[in-house]
Amino acid sequence: MNVVLGISGSIAAYKSAEIIRLLKKRGAEVKVILTKNGAEFITKKTLETLSNYPVACDMFAKIEHYDVEHISLAKWADIVLVAPATANIIAKFATGIADDMLSTTLLAAVGRAKIVFAPAMNTQMYDSPQNQYNMQRAREFGAEFFEPSSGELACGDIGRGRMDEPVSIVNALYDMFEAKQDLKGKRFLVTAGATIEPLDPVRYITNHSSGKMGISIANAAAKRGAEVILIAGRTQDIRIDSNIKTVNILTSQDMYEAVHEHIINADVFISAAAPADFTPEDYSEQKIKKSGDELILKLKKTKDILKSVADNKGKRIHVGFAAETENLHKNAVAKLKAKNLDMIAANDVTQKGCGFAYDTNAVELFFADGTHINSGLMTKNDLAHWLINHIAERF
Ligand SMILES: Cc1cc2nc3c(=O)[nH]c(=O)nc-3n(C[C@H](O)[C@H](O)[C@H](O)COP(=O)(O)O)c2cc1C
Repeated sequence: MNVVLGISGSIAAYKSAEIIRLLKKRGAEVKVILTKNGAEFITKKTLETLSNYPVACDMFAKIEHYDVEHISLAKWADIVLVAPATANIIAKFATGIADDMLSTTLLAAVGRAKIVFAPAMNTQMYDSPQNQYNMQRAREFGAEFFEPSSGELACGDIGRGRMDEPVSIVNALYDMFEAKQDLKGKRFLVTAGATIEPLDPVRYITNHSSGKMGISIANAAAKRGAEVILIAGRTQDIRIDSNIKTVNILTSQDMYEAVHEHIINADVFISAAAPADFTPEDYSEQKIKKSGDELILKLKKTKDILKSVADNKGKRIHVGFAAETENLHKNAVAKLKAKNLDMIAANDVTQKGCGFAYDTNAVELFFADGTHINSGLMTKNDLAHWLINHIAERF
């Protein structure tokens, strides 16, 4: 894999050295383009030593070989990764400005190489309407984004805008490059996360679902070429593939409505969310006061989403999840039958390394024909591909 790594003027440029090291460790060839402002944060010498190639910085530097360098770099690259990507370089790409080596190479690479930005910036800058607009336009021109994570930023603020760790970026880049496109033309509807059932303007009932499993499945399907709609309740701050259409919802009723709105066109429905089974019967418009020694809440049953789409599912594949604490086999098979599922992935959430908070999981996958298979413990990412392999076999 040939990677042109563009480094622009962000404090996160120090992480680029590690990106080069990790890419080279996995066998990639890496050539670096450093913007003039990027050179304020990391030296050419460091990057040249790590990449074993001269670093391109100045468009009009003395030509060492006959090629026009920005064109030859764009032709050479399988991927142009800009990490860190400043608001400035994203804006230039979105508007077609080509006034230095990196922006010119990016323009020459459109339609030739995959273009990926890993933004790094202050939260205000990241969330600004201009930057969001530019990111959207860049996507329309074929670029993809590794969304930044939340945390403490170099400026001391806490929020979104921190570039992902080099190891995550390199893994995601390889996933992107190596992914088979075996799900092209298939439409997936995936639910993820917990719902929030409000009691009053400040309190709500929810559960421990992190959304990791559902988002991993949605990401894996999108990487393999599927058109994916993700209906997401409350989730942890997890990177969602930029090709996924995300519908954010709050309550179990919202999720019910969103599923019914989008399921008609889906070839596969994967219900990995944890919608609440019960919701407060009454919502108090005012904050409930701390009067008396106890508060009795009356809850009413929510609509059963999986059951509501069980009939008339036609050839659509329905996959459910069952998080159990006992009688895994019996409960999973009962749910599979009651909800007319093609498969159900059951996991014992009391097992170490499995369930809500972990990055790993292990499931027993039960099929409608009575057979079942154990995945063994693996990362939620790998498990998502394992599950999708079983779904892909059905097409
Ligand atoms: C200390 C310092 C840190 C900066 N960090 C960022 C950053 O993380 N993200 C960003 O978009 N701009 C950041 N900037 C501003 C950019 O360097 C500036 O917009 C510059 O014009 C970007 O040029 P380039 O995109 O050609 O590299 C920073 C500036 C300074 C002085």
